[in-house]
Amino acid sequence: MKILITGANGMLAKSVRKRLAENELICTDVEDLDITNQEAVLQYVKEVKPEYIINCAAYTAVDKAEEAGEIVEKINSNGPENLAKAAKENDAVLVHISTDYVFGGDLDIENVYKEDDRKSPVTAYGVTKLHGEEKIKQNTDKYYIFRTAWLYGDGNNFVRTMLNLGDSKDEISVVCDQHGSPTYAEDLANIIAQAIEKKIPYGIYHATNQGYTTWYDFTKAIFECTGTVCKVNPVTTEKYIEMMKITQAKRPKNSQLSKEKLLAQGIEVPEWEDALKRYLKAEGKM
Ligand SMILES: NC(=O)c1ccc[n+]([C@@H]2O[C@H](COP(=O)([O-])OP(=O)(O)OC[C@H]3O[C@@H](n4cnc5c(N)ncnc54)[C@H](O)[C@@H]3O)[C@@H](O)[C@H]2O)c1
Repeated sequence: MKILITGANGMLAKSVRKRLAENELICTDVEDLDITNQEAVLQYVKEVKPEYIINCAAYTAVDKAEEAGEIVEKINSNGPENLAKAAKENDAVLVHISTDYVFGGDLDIENVYKEDDRKSPVTAYGVTKLHGEEKIKQNTDKYYIFRTAWLYGDGNNFVRTMLNLGDSKDEISVVCDQHGSPTYAEDLANIIAQAIEKKIPYGIYHATNQGYTTWYDFTKAIFECTGTVCKVNPVTTEKYIEMMKITQAKRPKNSQLSKEKLLAQGIEVPEWEDALKRYLKAEGKM
């Protein structure tokens, strides 16, 4: 299969490239194919004629996005729009990655978000990612949108940050009032590959690891698995912001995404604890 990957140097893309290596992969990042350049995208896809386009490109710096202006909308919304138009014109399937940030995050913790629940993003990142989803739906029918969250893999990520802190400090404070599913990029890549291989129905799917936790409990699990001796103190988001003297984009309290729709397609979705152990082993930390 001929597959075009955009944003191919990013964290998720590295796992996607590995998982789909048996295919004919055309890997591009901003220096080869800037997804915000409509003319270039239409021309490139016409020439390459891929069967699938996997868009791993995005503006992902959630806090910086608040002040970054137009560029965030261009990359997260116009980019997917251009790819959807190019996919449609060339009869390719577009695979796109979205986020839990399209939701408001204020749902009661006992509940989880389903794909069609009301969207009410509260950050520039979330707003532009939602626009990206809408642009895709308006421009092609043959698409998969996988909403993920709390991603870690081959790149800067929460697990690496916590391990560095754990090695250098005796105790740290971690927020305990944000709930979600840490997601190993290798597992998300495997979900994407399974969806393509099984040709599941087009549409939007929630795609994170199974199970739910908080950043605080996630950190405790990271330290337990690696034998890191560092006390972890639970703090509320409000307290954390005050302690660290930082300003940050609003974080969703509830990022819990239901995987029912994906599971109903027979897709394998591992538990987050199992995923964490595999990641730590792969990193030589366990
Ligand atoms: N990291 C997370 O925790 C997280 C959570 C939820 C959803 N997501 C989504 O998952 C996807 C992958 O995220 P990631 O963490 O691997 O991203 P990343 O930041 O590691 O990689 C993004 C890539 O996009 C490229 N890029 C940026 N602008 C571009 C442009 N104009 N044209 C072409 N390429 C461009 C960058 O060079 C980079 O290689 C994104 O859609 C992101 O919104 C990520």
